[in-house]
Amino acid sequence: MSKARKFDFLIAEPLQAKPSESRALRDGIDRLYHADESEIVMQLLASVQLDVASRERVNQATRDLISRVRARRHEQGVLEAFMQEYDLSSEEGVVLMCLAEALLRIPDDDTAEKLIADKLAGADWESHLGLSSSILVNAGTWGLMLTGRLVQLGSKTKKSIGNSIGRLVSRSGEPMVRTAIRQAMKIMGFQFVMGRNIEEAMERAEKKKNRGYRYSFDMLGEAALTAPDAERYFEAYQSAIEFIGRRSNQDDIFSAPSISVKLSALHPRYEFSQSGRVVKELTAKLSALAHLAKDEQIALTIDAEEADRLLLSLDIFTGVLKDRDLAVWDGLGIVVQAYHKMAGAVISMLESLAEETGHRIPVRLVKGAYWDTEIKHAQVEGFPGYPVFTRKANTDVAYIACAKRLLDNRQAFYPQFATHNAHTIAVVSELAGGRLDFEFQRLHGMGEDLYSEAFKVNKGHTCRVYAPVGNHEDLLPYLVRRLLENGANTSFVNRIMDGKLPLEEVAEDPLEKVANTTPVAHPSIPLPVRLYGDERQNSRGVNLANHSLLCGLAGDMQPFARGRYGVEPLLATRTDTSTAGGTTVDTNPSFPSEVVADVRDTSEEETNTAIAVAREFAGRWDAVG
Ligand code: FAD
Ligand code: 2OP
Repeated sequence: MSKARKFDFLIAEPLQAKPSESRALRDGIDRLYHADESEIVMQLLASVQLDVASRERVNQATRDLISRVRARRHEQGVLEAFMQEYDLSSEEGVVLMCLAEALLRIPDDDTAEKLIADKLAGADWESHLGLSSSILVNAGTWGLMLTGRLVQLGSKTKKSIGNSIGRLVSRSGEPMVRTAIRQAMKIMGFQFVMGRNIEEAMERAEKKKNRGYRYSFDMLGEAALTAPDAERYFEAYQSAIEFIGRRSNQDDIFSAPSISVKLSALHPRYEFSQSGRVVKELTAKLSALAHLAKDEQIALTIDAEEADRLLLSLDIFTGVLKDRDLAVWDGLGIVVQAYHKMAGAVISMLESLAEETGHRIPVRLVKGAYWDTEIKHAQVEGFPGYPVFTRKANTDVAYIACAKRLLDNRQAFYPQFATHNAHTIAVVSELAGGRLDFEFQRLHGMGEDLYSEAFKVNKGHTCRVYAPVGNHEDLLPYLVRRLLENGANTSFVNRIMDGKLPLEEVAEDPLEKVANTTPVAHPSIPLPVRLYGDERQNSRGVNLANHSLLCGLAGDMQPFARGRYGVEPLLATRTDTSTAGGTTVDTNPSFPSEVVADVRDTSEEETNTAIAVAREFAGRWDAVG
């Protein structure tokens, strides 16, 4: 432990005497994890003041785009119509979402049937009857209503008479629904997945109607739980890169098809507490994939995942970007999530990294797909704040501010704007100022009409499709994020198809909205500590994935590190120490050679006296009772 402070092991990495500029910027990033939302949003808003004429151009372009997409409503697919009818603001939408989420994880039929019975019986399916313009969605509503009734009837009769109707329900009703819902999940899978394997996906991408797009293939799989799983995903990425490289006929790295990688798929312990080991091992794995991608002349982007993994991903990205053998290849890209209070600081770090390494970094800007998870995680853990904004419009403003920074420094960045929002597309097109060295991105199965309409006006702009590839079993987490995104009534994709919402509301300008909204943070999403309002404070947790906080914690613990503590039994009765039990020493479990306390054990006599006293109290208590 030499000169280091005793609890520096919490920080998991050595402090550098003279860090590079990018390293110093990196060290400042997670100080913003729990920062004050108003302060950050006001700074972001001030950084993107568009003049009146540009603002009017953007707002007009947004309204036009929305009108044109709405005019194509009759082309809407069944999935969009279904998501529209059962969005997450309806109880039934939430029921279906929970069902879909859980059903794919339940291995046995019995439990699946119980879940279906539990979820379907209570909801009010009748209220949705005939409301959708899609015949198939209405037919689905009938099915859900009838099954809900059947299940209700089934549970009553099962209890009271246990007769044949109950048996009929459990034999034909629920298994039928189970099969139907599983089938529906597969259909949804087809909507969001480009192909079961890379060959199939590339074939689909090469079809005539898809040829106008660029593609980034993502091998489905994330959050590997075991080393063999991680190895399987690694091999899938490896062979996909080779296959894409062989099939690509593009020389330009930014136009060629690319690959998107989730680091959580490549290591079963991709978590902050394992920093030391994980950064080393994942840097090696990512480096192997990057070398392969460089040889095949395609780009590789690291997807962004949960906030707790942000610093790890930046460290791994930095390690590979600094590899001199990759110096001539500008294909290593990364995703920045605008909903993070840390997003601006991440861009500053990447800017400085680009300068230090001479790379032009492809940066995909997204709003972020893990919002609900981040909010819930911070509440459960009792953190001092949230890593993400709490109002949707705040995230929109952050996106615009980050977009401006990427577009303003195209020497450092090749900007890639991933969005399905008409205002975001309009504002990016305005900020790009006529230059074409950037691209838009959309997800496979989403935003097709939006971009085909947008590009009728913005000639020369390009769009890349993020195309998941893989099997049904690996789809679940991705599918749940897409269902959340399509079903949330704050999402643009949901609002644009909601005929009840006037155009002006769907097209609202987030810059104006944020400037006119107080308080800046959402009052219905109190800080985690205030979750129970005046009733009581939430229990406080320590964010063990926050480097800055851990540095503070290590310092606070230091005074308790010295000395050797005396430990003895806490008893209601004192005995003569001459009759006490023996003495042992306690060692630090993380450093077994270190003695932290002398422990006096409880003697047999003390134990007997304590039991006798307890019995006496129990007797008195019984007498009172
Ligand atoms: P909008 O409807 O304008 O925005 C919705 C977003 O606003 C939500 O997703 C959330 O981020 C934010 N939001 C919603 N409610 C609130 C609230 N109350 N307070 C604050 N913010 C709120 N996401 C990742 O996380 N990592 C990736 O690597 C990634 N890769 C992607 C690649 C592509 C090509 C695309 C198209 C998307 C990718 N995404 C990724 C998903 C992306 O984050 C979502 O699609 C995106 O957030 C939706 O944004 P939008 O502009 O289309 O929609
Ligand atoms: C997600 O997996 C697209 O990376 C994004 O949700």
